[in-house]
Amino acid sequence: MARLSGKTALITGGARGIGAAFARAFLREGATVMVADLSELAVKQAAHQMGVNGVVMDVTRQDSIDAAIAHAQVTMGHIDILVNNAGVYDLAPITDITRASYDRLFAVNVAGTLFVLQAAARHMIQRGQGGRIINLASQAGRRGEPLGAVYCATKAAVISLTQSAGLNLIKHGITVNAIAPGVIESDMWDHVDSLFAAAEGLPLGEKKRRVGDAVPYGRFGTPDEVAGMAVFLASDEAAYITAQTYGVDGGNWMA
Ligand SMILES: NC(=O)c1ccc[n+]([C@@H]2O[C@H](COP(=O)([O-])OP(=O)(O)OC[C@H]3O[C@@H](n4cnc5c(N)ncnc54)[C@H](O)[C@@H]3O)[C@@H](O)[C@H]2O)c1
Repeated sequence: MARLSGKTALITGGARGIGAAFARAFLREGATVMVADLSELAVKQAAHQMGVNGVVMDVTRQDSIDAAIAHAQVTMGHIDILVNNAGVYDLAPITDITRASYDRLFAVNVAGTLFVLQAAARHMIQRGQGGRIINLASQAGRRGEPLGAVYCATKAAVISLTQSAGLNLIKHGITVNAIAPGVIESDMWDHVDSLFAAAEGLPLGEKKRRVGDAVPYGRFGTPDEVAGMAVFLASDEAAYITAQTYGVDGGNWMA
């Protein structure tokens, strides 16, 4: 039996990568899905390919958040499940971090997560039927990385926000949990690889090869391999779970 039958889900950054894999998995489990992303073209293409609803949304802008949440309510009737998946990456040694990079990463990864969560939670509380919120953290939020100080700090903040929001919202029947992926094949990691190539003088693809080889499982994960955790956290089976962060990383963080 479908585990999300009759449920509605909004997935930010859902036009590609991990968010798109979540959309496909939620659809397979019987949910009505809306993907939200930055560009109209990407949203249209993704929505058409996957057979889901789409909405343009910039998680750094409150007017865009409010409009997208309202659109999701009108289109799907209500929102049972929010996945805060939109995220961006950058790297630099401590001495070279710029204000612009810091502001962008915190605007998308932290403020974006908090204020989309807030808008969805207000709707869920008003509706009175509880809800499920799933945030995308990272193994990077559980440790430092020499060139990843800002990204690591944003994902540590996501883990912390998940704990506080989980504790604050459980009285409304809303659970808040996070997933901490390890290294997952996506456009983001291709971008990460090119940044490392420039920073460490490596040929393109070399950092990715080394990082994949170092995973205890022996390779990168795929977006589809992260989706099972999202389905579980969105399902009735996870009703008693809140304020937690779960690694999906082939053993990477533990190693
Ligand atoms: N790929 C990995 O190895 C990995 C590991 C750990 C955590 N994560 C996290 O998982 C999430 C998804 O990562 P991915 O690898 O699929 O990345 P991706 O770059 O492939 O996809 C991210 C999506 O977010 C969207 N986005 C970016 N800024 C946005 C904004 N302001 N408003 C709305 N949408 C925006 C992008 O357009 C894109 O479609 C991110 O939060 C990322 O930090 C990824």
